[in-house]
Amino acid sequence: MRTIGLVVALSVASLCGAATQPQLRFAWKQVDYTWESPADRENAIKDGKFVQAHNLPLGLARWKNKLFVTVPRWKNGVASSLNYVNIDGPQDQPLTPYPSWKDNLVADSAKSLPSNNSIISVFRVYVDACDRLWVMDSGLADILGSPNQVTGPSLAIFDLKTDQLIHRYWFKVDDMKEDSFFANVVVDVDKDTCDNAFAYIPDLGGYGVVVYTLKENDSWRVSHHYFHFDPLAGQYNVGGIEFQWTDGVFGLALSEPRENGYRTMFFHAFSSTKQFCVSTELLRNYTKINKEEAFHDFKLLGDKGERSQASASFYDPKTNVLFYTQVNHDGIACWNSKKPFTVENNVLLFSDPSLYEFPNDLKVDDEGTLWLLVDKLPRFIYKELDANEVNYKIYSVSTTALIARTACEA
Ligand SMILES: *[C@@H]1O[C@H](CO)[C@@H](O)[C@H](O)[C@H]1NC(C)=O
Ligand SMILES: *[C@@H]1O[C@H](CO)[C@@H](O)[C@H](O)[C@H]1NC(C)=O
Ligand SMILES: *[C@@H]1O[C@H](CO)[C@@H](O)[C@H](O)[C@H]1NC(C)=O
Repeated sequence: MRTIGLVVALSVASLCGAATQPQLRFAWKQVDYTWESPADRENAIKDGKFVQAHNLPLGLARWKNKLFVTVPRWKNGVASSLNYVNIDGPQDQPLTPYPSWKDNLVADSAKSLPSNNSIISVFRVYVDACDRLWVMDSGLADILGSPNQVTGPSLAIFDLKTDQLIHRYWFKVDDMKEDSFFANVVVDVDKDTCDNAFAYIPDLGGYGVVVYTLKENDSWRVSHHYFHFDPLAGQYNVGGIEFQWTDGVFGLALSEPRENGYRTMFFHAFSSTKQFCVSTELLRNYTKINKEEAFHDFKLLGDKGERSQASASFYDPKTNVLFYTQVNHDGIACWNSKKPFTVENNVLLFSDPSLYEFPNDLKVDDEGTLWLLVDKLPRFIYKELDANEVNYKIYSVSTTALIARTACEA
């Protein structure tokens, strides 16, 4: 039965042009790092700073020939949370710590940051139009074991041309709630006015969005009902594992600037099938405006369809398409923002549990290539991964080829 299904699937793919299939770029059974020496690796294992099975890649972003890959400290023994691979290098290459080994190799029990370049635990990173890498460091080590808040949540901004830290900003007490968790960041900036950058950081545990302005070096918190999870959409089933998550706003995506100069921010809670949007004008002016009136400027776009929970989304300005992961469908979906937001216009582009078990992060780079990271996260959290199988994969695919002949095409 299985063989017949495979043959049919292959012939359909070749008939319709295999070019639209994502290409496997990186694949690991377990990840390792580019240690400075074999003795360093052995010592890190001996000291408990490196427990290989606990190092799960989660987020990604591309800049030139670097593909950043994050490894959050879900468990103890993550050797380096912020890393990159060489796009032209081998598929199973080790991760290189960024900006350096000495900044990243930190004990889970650390009481403070070893340096202002050190990243404790990062989920997602963002490359902006000004060749900068924005890193949302939660500061929390060993999340599922003995959680240790090494330092408060902070944004670290690196100059990718020099690999130097430009700025680090620690969130204010007012930016946070008791259950806050900051795991994502998107950056609103034009390449001609790099100092006038705004970052939007979703709080998936405290149900808000923090706005940071680089120019003013200040931040504030935006609240709205739409940042909460939908109590009827917190059920997941991935890789045969059922689980319930209460994650609120997580996926953020920015359109190109509108006529008034402001972008639209698309957003959704992770545990929800709804998609929303708001103008960045409102986010930027939030401290000055009437909050009751502003309530109605957050808009519901519609419902993406049954079991359509998404961990990540990205807006591709070249095609005007919003791409998003489909964790319950082991794939990726899209919506063309020029079309009505209906279930029919939200297209499941590919879906296959054997290839895409838990698509975790996706980004579109400035060449129109979509990058997708798949990592079997539920097995990692609730069971354990089989080190004899390929567990973590990164795919790439051209966005225009991917949406050809679907409702996401113009
Ligand atoms: C990083 O720390 C060093 C020494 O503590 C300090 O001189 C430098 O200004 C800091 N850099 C940034 C960007 O904060
Ligand atoms: C930015 O703001 C933070 C706190 O709000 C402050 O501690 C820090 O010194 C400021 N940095 C600069 C470069 O002004
Ligand atoms: C937001 O602030 C800008 C600059 O101060 C102003 O021009 C604009 O009218 C404000 N928008 C709203 C909706 O308050």
